[in-house]
Amino acid sequence: MVGPWEHEEVVTRLGPRSGVPVTVAVHSRRLGPAAGGIRLTQYPTWQDGLADALRLARGMTYKNAVAGLPFGGGKSVIAVPSTVPVTPSLRADALADLGELIATFDGSYLAGPDIGTGPDDMVYLRSFARHVFCLPESHGGTGPSSLPTARGVLAAIRAGLTAVFGSPSVSGRRVVVVGMGSVGSLLASSLRSAGASVVAADLIESRCAGYETVPVAGVYETDADVLVPAAVGGVVGAGVRAPLVVGPANNQLRSDDAAAALRDAGIVWVPDFVAGAGGVIYTLTREAEGLDPEAAMARVEAIAGTVETVLAKAAANGTTTLAEAVALADGRLNDAAGGRRS
Ligand code: PHE
Repeated sequence: MVGPWEHEEVVTRLGPRSGVPVTVAVHSRRLGPAAGGIRLTQYPTWQDGLADALRLARGMTYKNAVAGLPFGGGKSVIAVPSTVPVTPSLRADALADLGELIATFDGSYLAGPDIGTGPDDMVYLRSFARHVFCLPESHGGTGPSSLPTARGVLAAIRAGLTAVFGSPSVSGRRVVVVGMGSVGSLLASSLRSAGASVVAADLIESRCAGYETVPVAGVYETDADVLVPAAVGGVVGAGVRAPLVVGPANNQLRSDDAAAALRDAGIVWVPDFVAGAGGVIYTLTREAEGLDPEAAMARVEAIAGTVETVLAKAAANGTTTLAEAVALADGRLNDAAGGRRS
């Protein structure tokens, strides 16, 4: 699927203030302006940051297309070298550098938060670029996207449980949440409130306080009813033991072949770009399309129906859930292009 020059526009710039490489990657604008969050984290090299931006932008094309949003896919990455500590002043300088770059896209790339950034950063970025979303409500935005993201993942978990166990109830289910960041921690508490037995794992152990924990090493192979990847990508493949895998982490599979390996092992994997779309759905239907909170949340809950469709098609056709979700997205992308293929 990945061909040469697949992305429409990619700009990496050495930030003039921070000395940190900042990237905006636009994978596709076929359905509308590219939308995707800003990841601020450490990478061994700037090329690793760029590669992550390319993968994440592509994931957003599929996420937005499957969600039925009139947006293409893009992503920003602020790639702080692994050897450099992320101090508040470096963050501010790097965000300013990225903000200037985002402004040059003049609305053809819409930015929101992702790992390492949040609503307050969006306020700061807005002073450099207009097309920044998820500001706090006090600044006229809809606030953190982690809440609707978690709502959508819960809807996806229930649809997955129905397919695997015949009931959407999480009560009594052993659920392993990997990554207790903004979305993972919300998921863990909602699942526990709904009666699940939640096991948490995070490199920062203090984030798991109050939960049964398991070490991060080998966590994706833990015995559980549901595995919830809520950290970085490239983690799910052969060796997984939970019968249901569904979570918000982007680019979860170690490779596209992993989808077939999971199917062959009888494991149901809900594609990340289906399950994790709640944040972008809620934020952009409200902030860019003017939906009210209830209507926007109903769009988030509709993720359950998409999961049902994708799982049913994969089961009926003997294909993978990845192939069926990609087909759904490709259908919309090709319709938008009037049948044109690129
Ligand atoms: N971080 C979100 C994701 O990966 C992207 C996002 C973009 C969220 C715009 C809100 C608004 O899906």
